[in-house]
Amino acid sequence: MWPEEKPIIVRVSAEDYTEEGNHDTIMAEMLNLVKDEGIDLVNVSSGAVINVVPETYPGYQVKFAETIRNNTGLPVIAGGLITSPLMAEEILSNKRADFIFLGRELLRSPYWPLLAAKELSEDIEWPEPYKRAKI
Ligand SMILES: Cc1cc2nc3c(=O)[nH]c(=O)nc-3n(C[C@H](O)[C@H](O)[C@H](O)COP(=O)(O)O)c2cc1C
Repeated sequence: MWPEEKPIIVRVSAEDYTEEGNHDTIMAEMLNLVKDEGIDLVNVSSGAVINVVPETYPGYQVKFAETIRNNTGLPVIAGGLITSPLMAEEILSNKRADFIFLGRELLRSPYWPLLAAKELSEDIEWPEPYKRAKI
């Protein structure tokens, strides 16, 4: 039995980028069939299922997360070329998603969360070894 205190997070590819393929609304229907089995959160990605290279731009997958959030009532994690703190803030403040993920931006800028907090005037705890460097 999966421990009650641990969340079940499901990662989905919500868009196949071709007419005959999967789309966010279909993915939401599928999630509605199984969500009562205990899904706590949906991590929404896209593509990589069939050989179609999607057009990418900042936030290109956020609309899929929004559809799934609205059509299932489940909390979602959105991501895909999210690089700026203000963009992340817009997505969360407008309740387009409940969490965001960063992939490549964290590879480029591992301290992104610390710098983002500064840019958003949020005073957060820095890790002990970094405290003397806090800006
Ligand atoms: C180095 C690297 C490894 C990745 N590995 C996986 C993986 O194993 N499974 C997966 O679903 N997505 C994987 N991804 C995709 C990311 O989770 C993410 O969906 C994608 O990079 C878009 O987010 P980003 O624009 O913030 O990087 C990987 C991405 C990168 C850059």
